[in-house]
Amino acid sequence: MTAPDTGSDGRLPRTGKIPYGGDYNPEQWPQDVQDEDHRLFTQAGIDTLTVGVFIWSLTQPAEDVYDFTVLDGILDRAAAEGRQVCLATATAALPPWLAKKYPEVNRTDFEGRRHRYGQRHNFCPSSPAYRRLSTALADRLGERYAAHPALLAWHINNEYGGACYCDLCADAFRAWLRDRHGTLDALNDAWWTTFWSHRYTDWDEIEPPSALTEHWRGPDHTAFQGITLDYQRFMTDALLGCFTAEKKAIRAHDPDTPVTTNLMGAYRPLDYHRWAPHLDFASWDNYPPLDAPPTRPALAHDLMRGLKDGAPFWLMEQTPSTTACRDVNPLRRPGELRLATWQAIAHGADAALYFQMRASRGACEKYHGAVIGHAGRDDTRVFTEVADLGRELSELGAVTLGARTPARIALLFDWDSWWALEISDGPSRLVRYPDVVHGYYRAAREAGADVDVVAATADLTAYDVVLAPVLHLVKGDLPARLEAVARRGGTVLTTFLTARSDEHDRAFLTDVPGPLAPLMGIRVDEWDARPEDVVQPVELGELTAQARFVFEIVQLRGAETVAVYGTDFYAGTPAVTRNDFGAGEAWYVATAFDQPGVDHVVRRVLARHDLVGPYADHRTVETATRVTPDGACLLFLLNHDVRPAHLSAHTTATDLVTGKRLDQGEALTLDPLGVAVLRLQ
Ligand code: GLA
Ligand code: ZN
Repeated sequence: MTAPDTGSDGRLPRTGKIPYGGDYNPEQWPQDVQDEDHRLFTQAGIDTLTVGVFIWSLTQPAEDVYDFTVLDGILDRAAAEGRQVCLATATAALPPWLAKKYPEVNRTDFEGRRHRYGQRHNFCPSSPAYRRLSTALADRLGERYAAHPALLAWHINNEYGGACYCDLCADAFRAWLRDRHGTLDALNDAWWTTFWSHRYTDWDEIEPPSALTEHWRGPDHTAFQGITLDYQRFMTDALLGCFTAEKKAIRAHDPDTPVTTNLMGAYRPLDYHRWAPHLDFASWDNYPPLDAPPTRPALAHDLMRGLKDGAPFWLMEQTPSTTACRDVNPLRRPGELRLATWQAIAHGADAALYFQMRASRGACEKYHGAVIGHAGRDDTRVFTEVADLGRELSELGAVTLGARTPARIALLFDWDSWWALEISDGPSRLVRYPDVVHGYYRAAREAGADVDVVAATADLTAYDVVLAPVLHLVKGDLPARLEAVARRGGTVLTTFLTARSDEHDRAFLTDVPGPLAPLMGIRVDEWDARPEDVVQPVELGELTAQARFVFEIVQLRGAETVAVYGTDFYAGTPAVTRNDFGAGEAWYVATAFDQPGVDHVVRRVLARHDLVGPYADHRTVETATRVTPDGACLLFLLNHDVRPAHLSAHTTATDLVTGKRLDQGEALTLDPLGVAVLRLQ
């Protein structure tokens, strides 16, 4: 793999306003439709088109034939219309000839079935034919379009993901393991292979962990966590290798234009922190789960912003109205698209792009929402909302570009811990990593605090509070860095099932919570896992919180009790503790609380640092802050309620959306699903 070729906080495409537009596939349409598209784009304030994402079978109809006529036309037309393009390398959907000629490019799935030609996003990352042909294509594109006047950014591939278990991947895995572990002795030790007679004596004996080997009941049930964790890391790196190979090919022709690939937020299969140094800027596709609270997409935005040390990211895709891939695909109600777009901007998005500009006529996404529907009208509700938003963003201009979030809270997000927790046999499969993490994130956000969602390796010196829920694996110098946070007066909070094992998922041979025990001032010998219907009442001030799933039995070793379990043989023992450490504190939450319980604990922690925001009592009003490169502080207020929100301005400010000046204490009403962007004075 090539070394990262940019600084860790990367670089963004330079624009004069928020790029607005999205995925556009004019290759599906005749010229007169494209003419109409551009007329409508102008009407909707659309200035940026992501093109070429699925065009490989047209640009390379046979191995030795390249034909860029169509793509030339698309870029030239965009330039003539004054629009910029985010140019994809098209390597996510294979042309049929390629799969036929080189069957190795088709993946072998978890069950061991070699696939045949079909669908997309399904190339084997270890296939030499795929690597050769995808980089050759990227090379040609780089050569041809590096100097094109419409080019704004490169978009490599599309939504990298999934996994392959073929023989080529098995070989590549073995090479990756040699590199990581050095010797078989080290590998045997890391994976604890003496258990169940697995001591390997030859690298070739190692098989990818799949349904045919170490797994039963699916990807979460493995006999050896060590091999499964390493395979996830390997697959992350293998797909990343495809990305970096294409990027290198482009860089040979184009040293400047920023390069990205569209990520998927909190996507379990790929550890995006391993990708981050290789991206010039982060971008991602936001399709929030149905009925998710607004803090779910917010968490994903903040996770993506955290990839490049807090630099802005691009919202590469969102639907203007409906998805198609779910069993049931509801519409975005009036106002929801605008609110979701402003939410992305509030969290650091410097672009607002859609999938898709014009609805596909056939195939599986013909019902997917689009700016322009099959009838091509400019008076639909969706088109009107998109055009109104286009106008609004044009009026906003450059003010938010490059602005950063001044968070004083870090939430550690760790793919290794996610994987390890969810592939663990015991104590409980009811604990889901993103759910617990989201609960703590939500509590901080709804208290009105900005949160940076960062890797466990991130620099923590700037933060007052570090939240590290269910951080199952603890690696490297993290314990010392967390202790340093508390020692200088900060607060560290962690929870049950944290610091249980090392990077190979081997238990620490010390009291739980392992290397964090001194900081937490506790000792845990036992933990009781119970079904979902077993609820422990825990008194937290006025509140009786409900605790579930896992009840760790805590002994105090210097910490004090904040709250106790209400029932069972451990009734009266600590469920929440607080430890003085240096000038600061360490909190331990030994069980899975419901949201009110998490809210209570987090607000107490935040209050100590004066981090509860001025609008924290308005539960449906989300706040987020960005500080512009010239030092202006922007406070975004987002009303997630379908009723108006009646606030009073906490300080003197100007609302950039309405242009209205507000004095401190003046009434400030947010419309249903309404937005204000206060430039604070
Ligand atoms: C993903 C893909 C797009 C499209 C959308 C549909 O984000 O990148 O090509 O399939 O989903 O929601
Ligand atoms: Zn493979």
